[in-house]
Amino acid sequence: MSVDLVAWLGLALRWAHIITGIAWIGSSFYFVWLDNSLKPPARAEDKAQGVGGELWAVHGGGFYNKKKYLVAPGHMPDDLHWFKWEAYFTFISGFLLLCLVYYYGANLFLIDNAKMHLEPLQATLVGLGFILGGWVFYDTLCGSSIGEKPKTFGIIWFGVLTASAYALSQIFTGRGAFIHVGAMVGTAMALNVFAVIIPKQKIAVAALLRGEKPDPRLGKEAKKRSMHNNYMTLPVLLIMISNHYPVLYSGAYSWLVLAGLCAAALPIRQFFNLKHKGIVNYAYPAAGVAGYIVVMLAASGVFSSAAPKAANTDKVSATEVRQIIRTHCSACHSDTPTHAGIEEAPQGVMFDTMAQIKANAPRIRQQAVDAEAMPQGNETGMTAEDRRKLGLGLDQLPR
Ligand code: HEC
Repeated sequence: MSVDLVAWLGLALRWAHIITGIAWIGSSFYFVWLDNSLKPPARAEDKAQGVGGELWAVHGGGFYNKKKYLVAPGHMPDDLHWFKWEAYFTFISGFLLLCLVYYYGANLFLIDNAKMHLEPLQATLVGLGFILGGWVFYDTLCGSSIGEKPKTFGIIWFGVLTASAYALSQIFTGRGAFIHVGAMVGTAMALNVFAVIIPKQKIAVAALLRGEKPDPRLGKEAKKRSMHNNYMTLPVLLIMISNHYPVLYSGAYSWLVLAGLCAAALPIRQFFNLKHKGIVNYAYPAAGVAGYIVVMLAASGVFSSAAPKAANTDKVSATEVRQIIRTHCSACHSDTPTHAGIEEAPQGVMFDTMAQIKANAPRIRQQAVDAEAMPQGNETGMTAEDRRKLGLGLDQLPR
């Protein structure tokens, strides 16, 4: 009996990460919606007690009457719920998952020897450096005068993340680069909750309990970080699922593809933010969808002016195809893998026999010729010429 502990641990962490992430983003979407949907209170006594807005809702067979007190309620309830553990556990499970998949499995998923030769420890330190550096930069910029100008701030932070995506894509595998950009954004979001929003709220509540009026700057700073998180939500989710799409993370301009899609997500978020306030403007989602389509076409090479490649008539034999696959794929994709850390053929994909190669020809083309996502880590140094030959050879396989 053998238990693939890494796979089981990975599954548990990923599962927990998705559950806590849904809880965090779900409650965050809910509060943005609630805040934007509040109407002035109908009853005079509510107004007199400091209620600034209220909302009626029906859900799960009951009616809810939410009230928002502008400064604070007349007396502090004994049982006050704080929303924070969703965020903390999303961060913790995500960080552990990053460590397991990308740092423990650095040779497989993070290091690309064709780009930069790094030892696993060096690669880990570079990765952590980007994540930590990202937070220090973000937090410092928030505290500066630029932090008061949301648009300028947004453009600079977006630019820094895009530059990081570019730099990371020159160092790591495509997946490794993307996940680190995602980790930079996710870390900023979680630390916003942990290091700013919750501490400021604690100070404000403590002041109220002493019967003092809390400094309005506290609420302002918390609100600012909360708004940043709101706009970062859609991009961070995209980056986290991008790992399943070699069309996104492989290729020389992957960083630009990522930036384009994240930019397209912003008007979509904006649409909902405004819609909660009763302003419905379909130009926003239209812009988001148009942006997505433009990125899709650009990434697929539709706009490139290069003349179509002349039909290639090189003959590549089935034996050569097998040879290329044996050299570059079989250490992992075999009934008896020899690569360290690979116990079974990844995703059950094996290329031991000609029949298996033929059956998998479209997937081989997709992963190794079009997306250049395989061989994972490219330790065998598969060249562009090898890929071209493999592509031609796959076309010419006898039926
Ligand atoms: C160092 C190990 C390793 C080598 C070498 C390797 N792969 Fe993979 N391959 C993997 C892993 C790991 C996965 C699973 C990736 C995942 O779960 O996202 C995978 C997945 C795949 C898949 C399935 C992906 C899908 O979603 O359809 C295909 C197809 C594939 N590899 C083809 C190849 C080809 C072709 C080569 C050689 C050119 C190759 N691989 C070389 C490790 C390797």
